[in-house]
Amino acid sequence: MQQYMTQAALAEAWGLRDAADRFRHETVEEMQHAERLIKRMLGLGVAPNASQLRPAGLAYGLVELLLQDAALEAEIVALYDEATNFCRRIADTENAEFFNALLQDELQHAAEIETWLESLGVARRTTEDERAYF
Ligand SMILES: [Fe+2]
Ligand SMILES: [Fe+2]
Repeated sequence: MQQYMTQAALAEAWGLRDAADRFRHETVEEMQHAERLIKRMLGLGVAPNASQLRPAGLAYGLVELLLQDAALEAEIVALYDEATNFCRRIADTENAEFFNALLQDELQHAAEIETWLESLGVARRTTEDERAYF
């Protein structure tokens, strides 16, 4: 959420209105993810505790921002995939479904970023770690 909100502000400052709108849209989707996670945590009796967020990635151009986003989305895909599989292994179907739904959303985000990069003429190389997911 912080990453996309920052990028929306940067894109706005660069006069890239369409990009700013797209980043704002992503911000809202990530905010909805945060809300789902918080609700799930409260349901489990845990207080949300993200006291330190990773600093938002800054860059000098749209392509560099999108490359950072692609890497971030790939990272979260791996995380939700691991969480889904862990829950399945311990037969926690409810939480497996919860994480799998987030995983599907993040795969969609990753695909959208990839398509956006392609539309700018940039083909991003999938890393070794990401190959299992894409
Ligand atoms: Fe998300
Ligand atoms: Fe995402």
